[in-house]
Amino acid sequence: MKNITVIGAGTMGNGIAHTFAQKDFNVNLVDISADALEKAIATIGKNLDRMVQKEKITEDDKISTLSNISTFTDISEGVKGVDLVVEAATENKDLKLKIFKQLDQACNEATILATNTSSISITQIAEATNRAEKVIGMHFMNPVPIMKLVEVIRGKATSDEVTSKVMKMSENLGKIPVEVNDAPGFVANRILMPMINEAIYTLDENISSVQGIDTVMILGMSHPMGPLHLADFIGLDVCLSIMEVMHEGFGGKKYTPCPLLVDMVAAGNLGIKSAKGFYDYSDGVRNKKVAAQFCKI
Ligand SMILES: NC(=O)c1ccc[n+]([C@@H]2O[C@H](COP(=O)([O-])OP(=O)(O)OC[C@H]3O[C@@H](n4cnc5c(N)ncnc54)[C@H](O)[C@@H]3O)[C@@H](O)[C@H]2O)c1
Repeated sequence: MKNITVIGAGTMGNGIAHTFAQKDFNVNLVDISADALEKAIATIGKNLDRMVQKEKITEDDKISTLSNISTFTDISEGVKGVDLVVEAATENKDLKLKIFKQLDQACNEATILATNTSSISITQIAEATNRAEKVIGMHFMNPVPIMKLVEVIRGKATSDEVTSKVMKMSENLGKIPVEVNDAPGFVANRILMPMINEAIYTLDENISSVQGIDTVMILGMSHPMGPLHLADFIGLDVCLSIMEVMHEGFGGKKYTPCPLLVDMVAAGNLGIKSAKGFYDYSDGVRNKKVAAQFCKI
């Protein structure tokens, strides 16, 4: 497998494209928004520059990585002749079902269709196609070029052959794949998201400030980053969608999204991607300040 398409050029799509391109795959990056494609290439360039500065790669590696990526706004053009598609578009079930229907029609019969969804059922996504045995979850972690884990999720019909190809491909990318079965949130988000949601309830109930909550989890639990800062990294809209999928799938109060999370998404405070979430990033991602209105104590 040498020719890959990544659908969606947002936070995850640009990281997935970067990671494949750096390992010398030919990558077609597809987004409905030309602006998102332009931003993605600029972000990949900046991230590669940082790797050159740290002497992790050479200037030649940077140039060849960028030359391995082509961009498309037309999905049918962008999937011609590829071996694997990794879908990383917005976390929305209806959108993903529509994209997989389109992919099934536009791709070669042998093409494997993977989704980077954080929570939506792989089995349901596979049912939108006529190749359920070739549909699989390939859940990369953010930031993709750095994080080692790939959760490989088998839908009900995913074949052993496709699973072992995707496990091997993940290893070839320098990642460590873990095979899991299909359930809302899989393993990673089933455990992570209720913790983030609870941290938001803790803030909403004035138990501590943004920095207080994050510091407790960093110093007390040895987490590398606090849950509210992590939520800003993931995107608050993505966190909300994942909680909604788990609430729909499991029911119960445990999975009810915190009203503050709902309000922040409605207000467009989505975290790093909108420069404001629990922290304010208007001076750049590395200069985070607590966003005044959410600093409760
Ligand atoms: N953000 C994270 O930390 C994270 C981690 C793991 C998995 N995920 C999953 O990855 C996927 C993408 O999340 P993200 O954070 O990159 O979202 P994002 O909002 O940053 O980017 C989504 C991109 O998809 C594009 N898009 C929307 N409809 C499209 C279509 N029909 N065709 C092509 N492109 C389309 C949008 O224009 C946008 O550029 C989601 O399924 C999410 O759950 C996110």
